[in-house]
Amino acid sequence: MPRELTQNRIQKIWIPTKDDKPAPRRATGAPHFVNPPTVIVMVGLPARGKTYMSKKLTRYLNWIGMPTKVFNVGEYRREAVKNYSSYDFFKPDNECAVKIRQQCALAALRDVKSYLKDEGGQVAVFDATNTTRERREMILKFGAENSFKIFFIESVCDDPSVIASNIMEVKVSCPDYKDCNKTDAMLDFQRRIECYKTSYQPLDPDQHDRDLSFIKVIDVGRRYLVNRIQDHIQSKIVYYLMNIHVQPRTIYLCRHGESSDNLEGRLGGDAGLSARGKQFSAALARFVEEQQLEDLKVWTSQLCRSIQTAEHLGVPYEQWKALNEIDAGVCEEMTYDEVKEKFPDEFALRDEDKFYYRYPAGESYQDLVQRVEPVIMELERQENVLVVCHQAVMRCLLAYFLDKSADEMPYLKCPLHTVLKLTPVAYGCKVESISLNVEAVNTHRERPEEVKRGPGTLIRRNSVTPLTSPESNIKKPRIDDLDEPPIQEVPPSVASLALCSPSHLPLALAGQNLRRSSSGRHDVLQL
Ligand code: ADP
Ligand code: F6P
Ligand code: PEP
Repeated sequence: MPRELTQNRIQKIWIPTKDDKPAPRRATGAPHFVNPPTVIVMVGLPARGKTYMSKKLTRYLNWIGMPTKVFNVGEYRREAVKNYSSYDFFKPDNECAVKIRQQCALAALRDVKSYLKDEGGQVAVFDATNTTRERREMILKFGAENSFKIFFIESVCDDPSVIASNIMEVKVSCPDYKDCNKTDAMLDFQRRIECYKTSYQPLDPDQHDRDLSFIKVIDVGRRYLVNRIQDHIQSKIVYYLMNIHVQPRTIYLCRHGESSDNLEGRLGGDAGLSARGKQFSAALARFVEEQQLEDLKVWTSQLCRSIQTAEHLGVPYEQWKALNEIDAGVCEEMTYDEVKEKFPDEFALRDEDKFYYRYPAGESYQDLVQRVEPVIMELERQENVLVVCHQAVMRCLLAYFLDKSADEMPYLKCPLHTVLKLTPVAYGCKVESISLNVEAVNTHRERPEEVKRGPGTLIRRNSVTPLTSPESNIKKPRIDDLDEPPIQEVPPSVASLALCSPSHLPLALAGQNLRRSSSGRHDVLQL
């Protein structure tokens, strides 16, 4: 018999009526998955961009709502063997080291299993070299035993200049070489690669590996080989990997100039710019000129205030409907006070779970993520782009670039008349916040005190391994969920090596930590 249905008040979706007590709040909007979890297995020699792709893909999958985490075997190895001495460690005939590396891989797989079976994870990225068939057979067996789907991503690149620049960019400053000069580190790393070459067995699409699901990314994305895609998530991964690039570039995000609706505190609408909004548009034109960019693409929404802002720039621009501001439905053009008075329940519900809350006949932040996904994909394809958008839309885009959780996203600070300059660095993104010094109203409504320290809302898990990483550019675990013990146990096999133990993990993640630049105009957000 079909069950009675009731409408979920936060998301406005139909769910079966329950006789028992309502589900706890943390479960409100959490997605339910019916497909088996996936383990993405990276393959390739060192310095082929495996960690780069692992982290970037993980950030994307989390952002689209697929709980994903990276398990980097190199970090397990660093925990097990505190002091790296030289490439000797990676020689195939170093029996003791081979055993340690095997133990580290097993410890990481055990954590993959817990993540996917007990912690709500849906995708785990197993970031190691996995260059031998023997290692891959072991992972396939692990997948079969646990009913996990296995998808391989192999990076193949033999251009010595690419490899040298990769080593220079990320390897010489990695913890293995903390007491080593750059030249020696470069030499040691190149020798490390040679150690792997003797036993490397690339994926073989024609014979041995013809039944496996994988993508080979060849020559930094110049060519791809795709084999046996099994499902929607794998095709999304392939599509994503085929759109990203590593060319240096800058993305600028800002909101339209202040509008007459902003002055009155009204949500949504399609008003034009205020006098100060026009001043900002002129200041933005000067700013863009100062940046001296060869080829800058400008994108706006299809709303008047965004287009008026871009008109001042005197350059061609592209209008995207997908960049329109969040649709506040029945609350469009009201002030927050009016919403509170006319729809007190709705107002309270939005505060309770702002990411999932959908305005009646309108949208939620979760809806926005889906709407702006094509914009993100196109941003990944492009080089220099200025996006002139709106408060909620800018928060969504920013959350993608800064790997912010669903819980944080609706409260990210995106003031009017301020440009955020995003530049890719190593595995992440540098953010500079540049105020163009034109006054504007503040449209940011803080998270209400009473929900600030309530039960953790979930959701988007952090994207680092459970072990501490001494690398300063790797984010430490984020403690989203106060119900969850913040400290993870040492994996038994690594602990049994008795070489080290991560006795402490940071209890809080550095949030948007502002450092003012010498010019006083920039704030560098340290991640
Ligand atoms: P690995 O994990 O394979 O040892 P890393 O991910 O640490 O290598 O290397 C990072 C570098 O790889 C970055 O400089 C990045 O620009 C580069 N990179 C990213 N994608 C690729 C790719 N598909 N092929 C080669 N290099 C890449
Ligand atoms: O107030 C400006 C505005 O862009 C509104 O149009 C929009 O409804 C609101 O901000 C989104 O911000 P929040 O999600 O914090 O209400
Ligand atoms: C590592 O120890 O840095 C590493 C990547 O391990 P493996 O080659 O064993 O996967």
